[in-house]
Amino acid sequence: MSRIEISEVKLTEEEIQAAVDVLRSGNLRQNGQCEAFEREFASMVEARHAVTCANGTVALHLAYLSFLRPGDEVLVPSFTFMATGSMVAVSGARPVFCDIDPETFLIDLADAERRITERTRAIVPVHLFGNPVDAGAVSDFAARHNLTVVWDAAQAHGARWGKRDVGSFNDFVCYSFYPSKNMFVGEGGMVCTNNGEYDDKMRLLRSHGESGKYRHTLLGFNYRMTDVEAAIGRRQLLRLDEMLAKRRANADVLSAGLESISGIRPQKWTREGVHAWHQYCVVVDAEEFGCSRDCLAERLEKRGVASGVHYPRGLHQQPVFEELYGPLNLPVTEKTAETILALPVHHGLTVDDAATVVEAVRQCRG
Ligand SMILES: Cc1ncc(COP(=O)(O)O)c(C=O)c1O
Repeated sequence: MSRIEISEVKLTEEEIQAAVDVLRSGNLRQNGQCEAFEREFASMVEARHAVTCANGTVALHLAYLSFLRPGDEVLVPSFTFMATGSMVAVSGARPVFCDIDPETFLIDLADAERRITERTRAIVPVHLFGNPVDAGAVSDFAARHNLTVVWDAAQAHGARWGKRDVGSFNDFVCYSFYPSKNMFVGEGGMVCTNNGEYDDKMRLLRSHGESGKYRHTLLGFNYRMTDVEAAIGRRQLLRLDEMLAKRRANADVLSAGLESISGIRPQKWTREGVHAWHQYCVVVDAEEFGCSRDCLAERLEKRGVASGVHYPRGLHQQPVFEELYGPLNLPVTEKTAETILALPVHHGLTVDDAATVVEAVRQCRG
């Protein structure tokens, strides 16, 4: 039996050809592919604007720099990838780390509310593992406290809340196209927004703040995507639905099979949302399951099933943030970080592979 990997990053022949066509054309700068990718992506998620950029980290940076002022505070779930918080700090503001819900692993709005001060300027809900955050609850929360919303959708291409794609919500929605994500072009990012002023500002920041030839009206960066990546992305948009359908079919098999294994609790999602299954994560109750998270990972490895730990600590436990902001205790994040495990669910697997994963987990018990 071949090993079941945790992700698959294989371009199709058509995607490779799209990249080759750009390489042959000699247009190694932006020359139409990025703009077309922006239009097509915006249309898919039903956002007014989309801005391509070099990766998901700088997508967040562009969004934050468009409105944050030094000294602002930003509510960020502690249980997320580093860039969600670090880009707030490098933008001159302060990430205020919030705890998560123990079942959805998403930002706990009640905890976030307790951390609001007169400096709080924004909230960053992360659709973690592709599980959509309740957009209605966040929008009400943001309106009540006059906050800007930056959605971190790096893991959530194709996720929906209600009838809407998560990319259509205000104010900013940031994506990554890193290998292993639901869409992958190499390095790449995108920010969607419905606000024309933010769109203009991010385009300036992305390219040295240059508003005319060698005329700079803002301090900016070179955060541009290239046409090679955009051409791959455009082609891949054509199979995104198919890849998502495979992830969902695999997730259904995992959910149905794992239900009867005591001590294993999958991430919870609600019927109002459509999960994009970037990762299929479970928490392991060591006592009930008879084996800890790390023990399960080891036993799965022996059976040829890869797994992953996202994330082994919250951002508030990262040495750099402890040094910057002092110690903080977020019990749900800490407990989740100790017990969470990602199981294979990606689009390269069949439902039979997913059933094999369930069986392997069952055999690791005790
Ligand atoms: C939640 C989240 N935000 C931001 C990023 C950053 O994206 P990139 O790796 O493309 O810079 C990632 C990537 O892992 C992510 O998972």
